[in-house]
Amino acid sequence: MNAFRPIDNALPGIAAHLPCAGFAHLPTPLQRVEIDGRAVWIKRDDLSHPDYGGNKVRKLEFILAAAQRAGQRRVVTFGATGTHHGLATALFCRALGLECEVLLFDQPDSAHVRENRARLQASGAICTPCGSLARTVARFYLHPRRLRRDTLFLFAGGSGELGTLAFVNAALELAEQVDAGEAPRPARIYCATSSGSTLAGLTLGVALAGWDTQVIGVQVADARLGLFDACTPKTIQALMRRSLCWLERHELCWPADCPEVLLDDRWLGPGYGHPTVAAEQAATAFEQAVGVALDLTYTAKAFAALRADTAPGEVLYWHTLSST
Ligand SMILES: Cc1ncc(COP(=O)(O)O)c(C=O)c1O
Repeated sequence: MNAFRPIDNALPGIAAHLPCAGFAHLPTPLQRVEIDGRAVWIKRDDLSHPDYGGNKVRKLEFILAAAQRAGQRRVVTFGATGTHHGLATALFCRALGLECEVLLFDQPDSAHVRENRARLQASGAICTPCGSLARTVARFYLHPRRLRRDTLFLFAGGSGELGTLAFVNAALELAEQVDAGEAPRPARIYCATSSGSTLAGLTLGVALAGWDTQVIGVQVADARLGLFDACTPKTIQALMRRSLCWLERHELCWPADCPEVLLDDRWLGPGYGHPTVAAEQAATAFEQAVGVALDLTYTAKAFAALRADTAPGEVLYWHTLSST
């Protein structure tokens, strides 16, 4: 399959440094629906791959291609018990002939979590339950293969320079669709935010397209992990800066601003993976209008934030959960 890479035109010279496995089915469709008596545009990244879609596919086609170019044969990553990132990594590693190990930390149980866990188990990846998040992170950093060059240690969520650039590419994909008349330019885009590259990349990509659209990340993970920031405007800003440094290291120029991060922290509820009433109501409204289920950890919280948006202008919800 050929990669869809509008980023190559926007940042001339990047193609040589940014290999892409090209397994995502792009561009993902745009859909207009009526919800709560208003028009909402949906970017259907749930359809980014027929076996397993969602936002991780975009990141992994760059991350795994870079790993292969570096001669790496195994990926070690981590996530919660029902991790979408871990499942996507396991499935696409298998497709590319890479070994995969996923370290798992506990999260609130649900049918969706159990279903993902079973798919992960069936993927052939090594699954290592580690208990708490802190123990899992410790295991990740002290892993016996840590010093081996043939192993990629991929942080939870796949957020880093390459994951962020994948979402710069995604924003440029949307800009091409808007230029082609498929949808109006949105005033605001909403997406679920935890490890951050989806928001960081879309924010940068929208600036690169020359749009004044606001990209609003809806915080769905806890802000701090112990003493460290985990999901805050600072962590998103750091991802954006790291991506611009990556470009600089490859002598590529960034011809736009590094915009402000917009992170809405009002929808998390008691914490990562804990359902909220607003998320449950948002999931019901979405399913009735679109016929697609949202999950209560990520996408329903993001959609709840959009439902509360009453400002003028077109709104677009970036749907990040696989429906395949
Ligand atoms: C369904 C879904 N939506 C959104 C996100 C958040 O994306 P990011 O980690 O890039 O912030 C995730 C991350 O795991 C996810 O699984």
